Amino acid sequence: MAILKEFEDMSDTPLGKLKQVAEAMTVEMHAGLASEGGSTLGMLISSVDNLPTGNEHGLFYALDLGGTKFCLSRVQLGRKKRRVLEQESTEVSIPPHMMVGTSKGLCDFITEELATFVATEGDGDFHISPSRQREMGFSFSCPMTRTSGTPIKCTKHSSSIDGAVDQDLVAQLTQSMKSKGVDMRVAAVVNDTIRTLAGGRYLNNDVVAAVTLGTGTNAAYVECANAISKWHGVLPKSGEMVINMEWGNFRSVHLPLTEYDHALDVESLNVGEQSFGKIISGKYMGDIVRRVLLKMAEEADFFGDTVPSKLRIPFTLRTHEMSAMHHDNSPDLRVVGSILQDILGISNTSLTTRKVVVEVCVIVAERGARLSAAGILGILKKIGRETVKKGVKQKTVIAIDGGVFKHYSELTKCLENTLKELLGEEVKDTVVIEHANDVPRIGAALIAASHSQYNDMKSETGVVVSNQVSSKKGNPFLYISVCIALYFLSRR
Ligand code: BGC
Repeated sequence: MAILKEFEDMSDTPLGKLKQVAEAMTVEMHAGLASEGGSTLGMLISSVDNLPTGNEHGLFYALDLGGTKFCLSRVQLGRKKRRVLEQESTEVSIPPHMMVGTSKGLCDFITEELATFVATEGDGDFHISPSRQREMGFSFSCPMTRTSGTPIKCTKHSSSIDGAVDQDLVAQLTQSMKSKGVDMRVAAVVNDTIRTLAGGRYLNNDVVAAVTLGTGTNAAYVECANAISKWHGVLPKSGEMVINMEWGNFRSVHLPLTEYDHALDVESLNVGEQSFGKIISGKYMGDIVRRVLLKMAEEADFFGDTVPSKLRIPFTLRTHEMSAMHHDNSPDLRVVGSILQDILGISNTSLTTRKVVVEVCVIVAERGARLSAAGILGILKKIGRETVKKGVKQKTVIAIDGGVFKHYSELTKCLENTLKELLGEEVKDTVVIEHANDVPRIGAALIAASHSQYNDMKSETGVVVSNQVSSKKGNPFLYISVCIALYFLSRR
């Protein structure tokens, strides 16, 4: 019980501490926008300077490359605002030898699957006008460079992206598509959290930021372009730019770190990095629980005279098992009992033991949830949405996605309540957390739509399509001429 108590105290996140964490997040955001490498946050400038508005239409493809699989999707967007007429996806597992092979091999494999997928377009209600080239948005779950989408670093390890670090994936994919006769343009390449942001924004104009809370964690948001002082390029006409924060790497003296976090870090493949991610993401939370239980076993014979050997193996207990134990409502904590037995090889546990195990899960989950809420408050502070101006009707929506958020409902509840507590009475109802659901699936396709080569061109109906007020290619004279022509036509 002393071990439990100490862990609880060290993990404590009172509101005052959370506010300090939020403030530190805001400060790091400013620093990261001021200079490259000036912050623990990546604050990476993305290639997205206009998010979907809901006015996009046509057929668009998405490729989402994950750690062990990829997902191909297509979406037919209607002419009515925010009308998804049809959408379809297929998931493909990446064979293990390809995860350690070359990125060219991976791109060739993806292209073959893509060709098969494109060939079934006619089976559904998908159609592309004959004069158009198919366009795709490509997303993956790693930090990447702005223009070519080259993965800078793999923050996940043992994933398909490992072998692609420093490789220009877009160029390689384009090359593979060319050689295999797939006529498709990669219109945009984005991080997975930006994909969530785009999907959220397509459905709801009030979405200003997105958070991923899954195996990995991250946040992305819309920043004023002229606040990015490290950027020396031409400012986008929209005046806005999406920033990939890479918040998993956030570090601050205010983070409540315990001896278990330090041990996890020292034994990890990326020592000293991903401090925030190691507290709040699905990859690590289960292992923190395991480490606490191991100490209890070693120092207090918590599971009997011998230390269960499986408890010594890193990452044996995963976050989804931790979540299942946390949600166990049965009177005898049956689920906890069977997870201890099946996963950790610990049999015949008493109800008291099981209760303590649940308490450890609760401490880890609540710390993660409350710190995530503090991180979100940091973003709101940066964009001036943590207060409301008198008389101004303000709505701020944060789109969240990821397995932890989707399936760990106790954690999700705690995150939402904490954010409300942090915002206070006056502001709390102006900020909404929205689960992104299956929108991220088509998020990359939506970005392809808002960055289409055909935007601002004459559409098949003869009307100028301009869903990017800010488009660099926009031709205001052509637009005005067509408006005048339409005006006179309508008067005849
Ligand atoms: C990566 C981010 C990604 C997040 C969610 C993190 O490990 O660094 O780029 O957005 O996981 O998948």
